[in-house]
Order: sequence, then structure tokens, then C-alpha cells
Amino acid sequence: MQASAQAQPNIALIKYWGKRDVESNLPAADSLSVTLDTLWTRMSLEFDERLKQDTLDVNGSTAPSMLARVSHCLDLVVGNARAFARVQSSSNFPIGAGLASSASAFAALVVAADQAAGSHLETNALARLAGAASGSAARSLFGGFVELTAGDETIEVREIADSASWPLEVIVAVTAAGPKALGSTDAMIRSARTSPFYSSWLERQAADMEIARQAVQQKDFAKLAAVAEHNCLKMHSVMWGSRPPIVYWNQATIACMETVRALQADGHSVFFTIDAGPQLKAVCLPEDGDYVRAALEQTGGVIRVLQSGLGPGARLLEQV
Ligand code: DP6
Repeated sequence: MQASAQAQPNIALIKYWGKRDVESNLPAADSLSVTLDTLWTRMSLEFDERLKQDTLDVNGSTAPSMLARVSHCLDLVVGNARAFARVQSSSNFPIGAGLASSASAFAALVVAADQAAGSHLETNALARLAGAASGSAARSLFGGFVELTAGDETIEVREIADSASWPLEVIVAVTAAGPKALGSTDAMIRSARTSPFYSSWLERQAADMEIARQAVQQKDFAKLAAVAEHNCLKMHSVMWGSRPPIVYWNQATIACMETVRALQADGHSVFFTIDAGPQLKAVCLPEDGDYVRAALEQTGGVIRVLQSGLGPGARLLEQV
């Protein structure tokens, strides 16, 4: 049977960085994110008894490097006695460059596979399956503000506020187009093994989560800004302290941070966060969106700027 689904990437404000268990891909700590709306990945898939193996096409080209992860994810959703699948994926934003493309891809994949196989799993079960493929993907099953709670054996994911209740904007400053040098899975493993800051990072995560949760409930922008920037810079400090060091930033990343600092000094409600890549994401109130976008567009080294509000979780599409 054939099915298509769409999911949007999410941007973590309190980051997932580290695994309790690498094999099952269980995160070592909780995280909190916002799901975007105008950036998307669409997945179309069809199980076909005549196929001799799974096939994957990403934005019109075969993508052998991603195929093993996609096949494993399909095995988890449908079972490994399944028919092989023809999978087609398309995204309207750069993939593999620290823009959370694996989050939207695996969230859309589990929704499409569930429908095509007729399993009809509930959303948290799908979030767990997406999370087994890529930890951050679990959060893209839900919209708005999303909290992921990491237990000893499983995760719980829930929407703590919807996209309409606090309509923030996210402006992504793309500062490098190519794929990142080190994937986040390997970078997390290296951080856990070698960074002297890793254990204190994990110890303080619950406290940051609590502040962020309160900030969302109270719609307190300054509180959210302070804890999100702190959490982001702390995560990068863990990476910088790893051996060999993991530095995802480039000159333009730092120039964008300076732009955000200047906007803050001028009284604009904006803060930054940066993931496992050189792109900077500025989060702001909607009335500041166009101004923040223009300032980032004028920042040296910025290749392109993407702007998005907050949106819904992964869902089925009638047709792609
Ligand atoms: C920095 O979800 O890509 O974006 O589970 O190994 O696939 P894997 O990692 P991934 O890591 C995301 C890391 C982050 C922070 C976050 O999204 O919470």
C-alpha cells in the first residue's frame, strides 16, 4: 500500500546532546523544542512484494548513504518480515547541514510507513520509533512547543503549548551549504567519552528544562531567551572540550551572534540557538521577525535566510 506524509523540522531550545544507550538511541536527558511550519520534508512510500530491496530517492536522486537508516526505521515500524519499499523524499530546505533534516525526514517516514502498513499506532509510539532512528525526530511528531522526557527504557513526548498559543518566529541564517564534517551521533559519542564537561551538562539539564517549561507557560520571552542561549552555549562548550574538539561554528556563525546581540541591545525580542552545524537560528516575537530577518541577511557570510512560524506535528498527506 502507498502513503505520503509531511513533517517539519524542530529547533531545540533545551538541547538533546548525549545518549543513555547508543544501540537503542535513547537520549541521556530531556529536551524541549519548537516545531516549524514553512520548512518541510515529504515522504512517499510504497511496499511492493516485487522489489528485491528498499530504494530511496531524495530530492530526485538516489541516496544510498541514507538507505540503511531508512530500512532499519521501516523494520522497526512494520517488522522485518515486511515487503521492500520504494521511498521518495523531498525537502524545501538544505539537508545534512545542521538544519534538522533528519528530524523531519524520520518523523514523516514513520507516519507514512504506519499508514502504508495499516498499523495505526498512536502518536507517542510513532515518536518512539522516529526517535530510535534520530533522537530529535521524536519531537517532530508533535507541533508547537514539545517536551521530550527521557526515561531509563523509553521516551515520552508531548506538546506543552500549541503553535497558536505563543506564535514565535524562527529565522534561520544559513552560513554554509555543504554537509557537516561530523554527524551528531558520532559527535555525541565523542563528547560523552572525552569531554570533561559532559557529566555536568547532563546534571544541569533538568533545571534548564524546568525554567524553559515555566517560560513557555508564562509566555515570558526574556526568561526563555536566557535559558535557551545558556543551554546552547553550554552544549557547544561540551563539544569544544571534547578530544579532538568539535567546533561546528564558522566566522559567519559568530557574526550572526553579534547581530543578535546588537538587536537585543536595541530592545528587540530575539535570541539565538545553534545546533550541530554552523547555521544560527534566531527566535523572536512575530513583530520583530522582518527586522531580525533583514539584519541577518545583511550579516557578512550569510548565504541565505529562511523564516518560519511554529507549526503542527507530522501528518498524512492525501498526495505529494
Ligand atoms: C544539536 O537527533 O540528529 O540538534 O539521535 O544521533 O540522530 P541522533 O541525533 P540528532 O541530534 C540532534 C542534536 C541537536 C540538538 C537537538 O535537536 O536537541
